[in-house]
Amino acid sequence: MTYDFRIAAGDTATMYRDLASALEGLVAGEPDAIANMANAAALVWETLPDLNWAGFYRNLGGELVLGPFQGRPACVRIKYGEGVCGVTAETRKVQRVEDVNAFPGHIACDSASASEIVVPIMRDGKLIAVLDIDSPTRGRFTEEDEAGCVKLGDILARVL
Ligand code: SME
Repeated sequence: MTYDFRIAAGDTATMYRDLASALEGLVAGEPDAIANMANAAALVWETLPDLNWAGFYRNLGGELVLGPFQGRPACVRIKYGEGVCGVTAETRKVQRVEDVNAFPGHIACDSASASEIVVPIMRDGKLIAVLDIDSPTRGRFTEEDEAGCVKLGDILARVL
């Protein structure tokens, strides 16, 4: 098996399609959630341009706890309803934030963050984790990014 999952730059739809198939390959047959989150964070970080953080918060004991990620060290625990991740955990809905400074309660782990997308990862109606991706550019994440990230979440829901 090769681990050379570098994905050629192309249009966004192609990039997300290739990213999804690389992720499927990386997690296939691997039941360890931490290993799968770690590789997923690295793959997203390597593939998507213009990011400053990519990783996971796990839903543990009624709060979010930091999981595998790439980027600067981040806050460890986030309560439901707090910040973009906590609102995602509470609402179970994707939060795509154009300008984090305009988001009430946004938690600034890295002051470089300007926009953010957070995707809930659900299995059998339960929240397992959230995928959090930050960018230093305002309005970095489009509807196409949202669709692509939701697809990544669907793949991960089966293996976390
Ligand atoms: N900004 C997030 C906190 C996590 S860091 O971005 C890694 C939030 O408001 O939930």
